[in-house]
Amino acid sequence: MAPRVGRPEPPVRYDEIAPRAPDGPIDLSSLAPGGGPIELDIGFGRGRSLFERAEAAPEARIVGVELKAKWAWRVEQRRRRLGLDRVVVFAGDARDLLDRAGPDGSVARVFVHFPDPWWKKRHAKRRVLGPSFLDTLARLLEPGGALYVQTDVEARALLYRDLIAAHADFALDGGRGWVEANPFGARSNREARADEDGLPVYRLLAHRLPLGPPAP
Ligand SMILES: C[S@@+](CC[C@H](N)C(=O)[O-])C[C@H]1O[C@@H](n2cnc3c(N)ncnc32)[C@H](O)[C@@H]1O
Repeated sequence: MAPRVGRPEPPVRYDEIAPRAPDGPIDLSSLAPGGGPIELDIGFGRGRSLFERAEAAPEARIVGVELKAKWAWRVEQRRRRLGLDRVVVFAGDARDLLDRAGPDGSVARVFVHFPDPWWKKRHAKRRVLGPSFLDTLARLLEPGGALYVQTDVEARALLYRDLIAAHADFALDGGRGWVEANPFGARSNREARADEDGLPVYRLLAHRLPLGPPAP
């Protein structure tokens, strides 16, 4: 049927249809079935890293949080089509959402792929990876748990490295934190694009202290 002229469809309000975390405390250990390691993907954007990681780590239970409701909704549709119940996605600010999350020490790995697309000084407070978010991640990570951060912006990479180095609960791998390749077998959309364009990617790996037995 031809669309009726002058009667546009009402705009989709992604804010209303995007998947949302429950109000109040969030129990990460009960969001997805099974007993596999819990992983977080912060700001997953178009979601490639979630789906590739689900394939690379078939036991992992992966919780993604994305600020943009539209992307969270789209990724949720794809997740449902694939029947991937080990992957859970929420729209929202990861800082607020994970502040309400527990149990402490329940997360094995945190991925932060290409965060913080804002450049202006007045947008500094939007930056996700700052000291207080690192406190939240340190609380949630198990001893020896991994924090992986990557970006194509050198100045940001240096800033993240300095922040992580200054945090008492993290140890940068090899003392400096830089790793040559993504060790997790899952690329994000931005990472794949950077690889295709031949752009450098700055990759940082840290672990939650105390290190305990080596994390895989
Ligand atoms: C440059 S994009 C990278 C997307 C994806 N990780 C990738 O590498 O392709 C940064 C993403 O982080 C999201 N983001 C920024 N701040 C956030 C926050 N506080 N909580 C959740 N997501 C956030 C943005 O909406 C955006 O989708």
